[in-house]
Amino acid sequence: MVNKVCSVGIIGTGSYLPETIVTNEDLEKIIDTNDEWIVTRTGISERRKAPPEMATSDLGAIAAQRAIESANLRPEDIDLIIVATITPDMLFPSTACIIQEKIGATKAAAFDLSAACTGFIYGLSIAAQFIATGMYKYVLVIGAEVLSRILNPKDRSTLILFGDGAGAAVLGPVEEGYGFLSFDLGAEGSGGDLLYIKAGGSRFPASKETVEKGEHYIKMVGNEVFKFAVRIMGETSLKALEKAGLTQDDVNYLIPHQANIRIVDAAVKRLKLATEKVYVNLDKYGNMSGASVPVALDEAVRKGRINKGDNVILVGFGAGLTWGSCVIRWS
Ligand code: ACO
Repeated sequence: MVNKVCSVGIIGTGSYLPETIVTNEDLEKIIDTNDEWIVTRTGISERRKAPPEMATSDLGAIAAQRAIESANLRPEDIDLIIVATITPDMLFPSTACIIQEKIGATKAAAFDLSAACTGFIYGLSIAAQFIATGMYKYVLVIGAEVLSRILNPKDRSTLILFGDGAGAAVLGPVEEGYGFLSFDLGAEGSGGDLLYIKAGGSRFPASKETVEKGEHYIKMVGNEVFKFAVRIMGETSLKALEKAGLTQDDVNYLIPHQANIRIVDAAVKRLKLATEKVYVNLDKYGNMSGASVPVALDEAVRKGRINKGDNVILVGFGAGLTWGSCVIRWS
């Protein structure tokens, strides 16, 4: 335990992608779509699919182990596990508790959080505060999804967008002046009906009828979510920069939520960033909801795109509606 308010940063990252690749051509065989439409409207060429025996905790546990290893820690060093997911193994217990057991993080408290694609950034903000106040020293934040299990195989507007994967980060105390400089989080509950799963909760419990109507699958009003995303990605990033006392000119790297290349391009334009300062992997993985930002972050770190002292923005949006961004001075 640390006993005073301290600088907090990301000290390790990890990710895991299932091996099976589903290409746009594969989807052409099962629904009325085509590679040209998917690539021009979304930028996505392929996505990953977890095998039937793997659930979200299985993907998340591997990403977590890789993050702990890269932080040079042992699972027993972790004080808290936060899992951001909209595809938990089951309604309860939490996927965080299942992962705690799988990786042997015996000392850790554990809980899930629900903020859809923004979940990982919400999770970072919670973790950072536990560490800054001295309550915990090392917190593991995981974004993990098996979205292929909640996609309607007959709905071409969602089936093409989403993929499975997991990413993780270990947060801990860092040198003064480095680490998280600011967070900007928000929600607009009035937009809840733009992206949701109707059945399986307390309002519409799962029944033969809800299954027959496909109400356990994602429903999305794509073009409305698109307009919201284009507006909010730039707005929240600029707010986080302002809170950190920085401007667009100070940004060294951007890790955006990987939903659609046209949404990423709009954010990049608003922030007036050069494209080489932006990490994009949605062409290979599609939108992995809570896993998108941590997988992109881990890949960028492992490829050496982010260096000590860089000002990095993570930004996302998602169901809820929710949004969030943070500025990190990389340590
Ligand atoms: N293949 C071919 N045609 C299609 C497909 C498809 N896969 N999907 C839709 N179309 C058709 C539509 O039926 C429509 O045809 P019509 O004009 O004859 O009615 C036409 O294409 C245009 O449809 P739009 O929905 O207006 O297309 P749009 O350009 O908006 O692109 C898309 C759709 C890609 C879904 C876009 O709106 C988008 O990316 N929205 C954001 C979605 C998103 O990011 N969601 C994740 C949020 S994060 C989270 O929390 C999970």
